[in-house]
Amino acid sequence: MSWDSKLIDRAKEIIELYPQKRSALGPLLYLAQEKEGYIDDDSVVEISKLIGITEVQVRSVASFYTMYKQEPSGKYLLSVCKSISCEINNSKEVIDNIKEFTGLANNETDIESTFTFEEVECIGACGGAPAVQINYETVEGVTPTKALELCKYLKEEVPEVIVADELQDKFGGTKSFDWAIEDNSGTSSTAPGFQIIGTSEEK
Ligand code: FES
Repeated sequence: MSWDSKLIDRAKEIIELYPQKRSALGPLLYLAQEKEGYIDDDSVVEISKLIGITEVQVRSVASFYTMYKQEPSGKYLLSVCKSISCEINNSKEVIDNIKEFTGLANNETDIESTFTFEEVECIGACGGAPAVQINYETVEGVTPTKALELCKYLKEEVPEVIVADELQDKFGGTKSFDWAIEDNSGTSSTAPGFQIIGTSEEK
């Protein structure tokens, strides 16, 4: 679907933040993902026009980074770190429990489009390993049992907004460190919820 005027205005605000238009490519791809759940063809065209690069250049970045999705994810994208710090802190069992609960293998989405499961490399929360992200909101110190409880909570409660701090309190354990900043905005899509790209509060 083509971008409406509201989305184009948001894109222009993002572009304004950068000295060169093309530097806004990453955030604009997330904007597209927030809108459609993946990087669709129309968004590639819109972004290419907005920042003056070719569609092939847009696609080459979108297809290189795994956080940009090439097909729609489920409502909740479960990303579990499998890199070294998480692995030695039992991420394998966390992964196994999530796979068993969802019935999904790596990079699969269930038929109801509730969950997409993926194993990912380090997500920068090594001090709080094992770390899990739900729609890119990070929860640290997740035990295998808590991972199951987290999946059950998502399936039964179906929260519209995912807020890292809330999930950390409910399902997390040891954190890397305290950010000392409360962030209750969260995300209501499978794109990161940080400003200015779009948060539940921005919508
Ligand atoms: S190794 Fe898992 S977050 Fe870094």
